Amino acid sequence: MSRPVLSPRDTRVEMTQIVLPTHTNNHGTVFGGQIAAWIDICAAVSAQRYSQGPVVTASIDQLHFMAAVKQGMIVILRSQVNMAWRSSMEIGVRIEAEDPITGRREHCCSAYTTFVALDDEGHPRPIAPFDPGDDPEARRRAEQAGMRRQIRLEMRRRRQAADRG
Ligand SMILES: CC(C)(COP(=O)(O)OP(=O)(O)OC[C@H]1O[C@@H](n2cnc3c(N)ncnc32)[C@H](O)[C@@H]1OP(=O)(O)O)[C@@H](O)C(=O)NCCC(=O)NCCS
Repeated sequence: MSRPVLSPRDTRVEMTQIVLPTHTNNHGTVFGGQIAAWIDICAAVSAQRYSQGPVVTASIDQLHFMAAVKQGMIVILRSQVNMAWRSSMEIGVRIEAEDPITGRREHCCSAYTTFVALDDEGHPRPIAPFDPGDDPEARRRAEQAGMRRQIRLEMRRRRQAADRG
């Protein structure tokens, strides 16, 4: 039996990591690629929840690391589906670093990811229409996601054209 369509709030995921020596570079701060991997996992859970099936990462928008995260810090990732289209979804992820001694939290990075729902053959699969309800914040996110999608798809189109030569 299929589950009811979820609201954006129902797709929220919070994921917590401790920065270990294996996550850090020679300066004792976390690799950017490690943060990107955690973003991918956190967002994938939101996307799977919304689409109720397998998903694949189509794109991750620009990542800007605004604060270094040191070994021993706690990284908190929070994600939620901002908007869904025919088979794709935008998932926003906010990343904060927490000092375990002082409890002070700092925003270190945000990301917009796009995931595509797949069917059993690995082809894009239609997903439920997105309904932000009457939550003004959810409506604002959905509207902004629509603008970002246009830019993303234009970039994809240009890249495909460049590949064709
Ligand atoms: C993403 C992928 C499934 C798209 O498949 P496709 O056959 O090109 O299908 P379409 O062109 O119909 O795109 C399907 C949807 O994805 C969206 N999409 C495709 N590429 C995108 C991109 N780079 N950024 C944002 N959205 C994208 C399309 O707009 C479309 O959205 P919609 O159905 O909601 O309107 C396919 O390119 C793929 O499998 N890529 C590899 C994914 C992967 O392996 N990721 C892990 C890292 S390698």
